[in-house]
Amino acid sequence: MSQFVLAVENVSHTYTTTDGQVVKALHEVTLCLSPKTFTCLVGASGSGKTTLLRIMAGLIRPKSGQVLLNGKPLRQPQRRISLVFQRDTLLPWRTVRQNVALPLQLAGVDRKKRFMQADQLLDLMGLSEFANAFPTELSGGMIQRVNIARGLITQPDILLLDEPFGALDALTREQLWRELLLIWGRTHATVLMVTHDIREAIFLSQRVMVMSTRPGHIVKEVEVPFDYPRHFDLLTDPIFIQKEAQVREAILADRLSSSRLG
Ligand SMILES: Nc1ncnc2c1ncn2[C@@H]1O[C@H](COP(=O)(O)OP(=O)(O)OP(=O)(O)O)[C@@H](O)[C@H]1O
Ligand SMILES: [Mg+2]
Repeated sequence: MSQFVLAVENVSHTYTTTDGQVVKALHEVTLCLSPKTFTCLVGASGSGKTTLLRIMAGLIRPKSGQVLLNGKPLRQPQRRISLVFQRDTLLPWRTVRQNVALPLQLAGVDRKKRFMQADQLLDLMGLSEFANAFPTELSGGMIQRVNIARGLITQPDILLLDEPFGALDALTREQLWRELLLIWGRTHATVLMVTHDIREAIFLSQRVMVMSTRPGHIVKEVEVPFDYPRHFDLLTDPIFIQKEAQVREAILADRLSSSRLG
């Protein structure tokens, strides 16, 4: 039995665009997730982060390399792996409750049971009073909470989050950090989250992986030594600031070397 719940081994991927151009998105990425850990992935726009998450969710087969789920090759999407997409994918004609319950509906769970589970998650997310609202009636922060609730409803072992707070203002974001950590503490899922925000990555995770510019590969791994629960005074802790600098330096060094090469 593997010590990693999900392992990406030497994964490379290329796309061919509609006009026939070959885009090298990922180059020999290796990344392993231990059970119940929280990892963040940061990197430039277009470096292949979403591609990597889609591969880890079994939605795309990589051109080379492999993904192992509990030691076994991942060949298709699995209920134990949940991906929360970068773009808002709530269905506008469905209520919040119906959106959250959708994955269970697709899995054939009966209506009463799936709504009960959706309501429990909405309660956890502080969204109970919006269960019957439609997505257009929600704020950006609420929409992201609903997205995350939908990702959690199948009780996945692995939760992949693609820039879940990208479009939000700083204060809403920080509030959602606390909520996400609270939920993570209760579910014990293994989380990999993509973000552009270095502070967010360090505040939330136990490990920050830095991805290079395209074709993406991991150029640096920074361990974050703080215990949970975490509080906002951490943001001014000298070690926190030092970790922030390490991640920033890795991103800048990679940019510099890729612009020299280019
Ligand atoms: N379906 C596709 N067909 C062709 N090229 C694609 C496709 N999807 C992504 N790409 C290209 O692959 C590269 C990596 O894209 P990807 O979306 O994985 O990057 P990203 O790191 O998630 O970027 P961002 O931070 O902006 O979300 C980009 O150059 C993109 O244009
Ligand atoms: Mg992306």
